[in-house]
Amino acid sequence: MRIIGINDSSHDAAISVIDNGKIVFAAHAERYDKNKNTLYLNFGIVSEAMSYGKPDKIAYFEKRRSKQIRLALHGGINGQYDRCLYKTLGLHKYLQDTEEIQISHHRSHAHAGYLTSTFDDAAVVVLDAIGEFETASIWRADGDKLKRVWSMKYPTSFGLFYSFMTDYVGLKPGCDEYILMGMAAFGDRTKYLNYVNDLFPHYDSQAINFHKKRDIGVTINTEQDKFDLAAATQHVFELRLMEIMHLAKSICNSNNLVYTGGCALNCSANSKLFNIFDNIWIMPNPGDAGSSLGAALAVHGKRVEWSGPYLGTNVGGHYPVHRIIQELAHGGVVGVMNGRAEFGPRALGNRSLLADPREISSKDRLNLIKKREPFRPFAPVVLEEEAHKWFDTPAPSPYMQFAVRAKFPNLIPGAVHVDGTSRVQTVSKSQHPGLHEVLVRWQNMTGIPILTNTSLNIKNQPLLNDLRDAKAWQLEYPTVPLVVGS
Ligand SMILES: [Fe+2]
Repeated sequence: MRIIGINDSSHDAAISVIDNGKIVFAAHAERYDKNKNTLYLNFGIVSEAMSYGKPDKIAYFEKRRSKQIRLALHGGINGQYDRCLYKTLGLHKYLQDTEEIQISHHRSHAHAGYLTSTFDDAAVVVLDAIGEFETASIWRADGDKLKRVWSMKYPTSFGLFYSFMTDYVGLKPGCDEYILMGMAAFGDRTKYLNYVNDLFPHYDSQAINFHKKRDIGVTINTEQDKFDLAAATQHVFELRLMEIMHLAKSICNSNNLVYTGGCALNCSANSKLFNIFDNIWIMPNPGDAGSSLGAALAVHGKRVEWSGPYLGTNVGGHYPVHRIIQELAHGGVVGVMNGRAEFGPRALGNRSLLADPREISSKDRLNLIKKREPFRPFAPVVLEEEAHKWFDTPAPSPYMQFAVRAKFPNLIPGAVHVDGTSRVQTVSKSQHPGLHEVLVRWQNMTGIPILTNTSLNIKNQPLLNDLRDAKAWQLEYPTVPLVVGS
């Protein structure tokens, strides 16, 4: 049985393919058309997905009719839900006569999370901006089965709250929420806390409709006002998050948490969840692109073996360990492209820009290359077996999903945020043998098992995908080496 899961005509269009219970392909459409968070599939990604053969079923990640009704009644951040291109792009003859099954938005999220986990039971929490009407849901998972036991509907929404505040400080909602999260560390969370808390005083109540722009009583006069608002927003988000997680634990009576939906990308908040649950699984693509996989998994109805996030375009090659070390020793920064692209928003070693974290100047150099704001943090990648010596990691963090305290920030200033935390990626030998070997050799050279790891992308574009993109990089940044496995 081959099932193709699709997100199309919403943000973060994506395709996943499951073949006989194995995930054989999963990718974002943005990597092919170069529009970040692209709404629509394109010929490139569909052709690649179809190369795995004729699907028996198509799983669509939402209930289209219900979503159309909600958009007609209330509008939405995207709103362009007027067509479903995947059947009409001339995408492939196979798709024309294949049965389509529509899975509700939160059901897709929940299955993406739980059926990629190893838990026998779990509390599954889905938090995002909005699906059809649902904005939050809790599912009790047992064996391969999930049962929705609680849900919250529009207009109350964790994600819309965060997007509203992202917009309020002048950033792009639905896109720049991670920037607001990074800004929070520079702000005084108390200054505007009452204003922000009044907007969202309890997990299931809010004071305004976050879809509509309005004045909340705070006038932004300085850049610091934006940082202070960011800090208050992050704090209120975390307060409400803890409330709903306690609710999930009490309903489901499990120490295992599966957390999914776009809000699960908030790594600053995620680390606090270990105060409530013993074990946490956040799959590397918990947002809507990951729901293409979730829809396919819901149709599949059984757990799949999760072998990692490297599920996209394959440029082949052996991991260029020696050349990476050479370039790091020589200039401190190197781009790497090898094997299959990561499925998710984070570069995890196969489409990464690696740098020496020991000097703060490496952060400045990366900011210059990436042309991004100087306050934004960079993340470390660390040997899993050494991680506890360098960070307060409660558990392995293979997908950069938890911000944790750095124990020796002065030794790795290039990979620590202003608040002393780092969004850590831990690497084991089985998870990524090539990157693991790079870190072992780097440790042998420097005494430090850590490198800075950021996404390999040209400014304002998605992560690099294929060898044509590698050539574009070399033209754009002729002085920044990019090594490609061979
Ligand atoms: Fe979602």
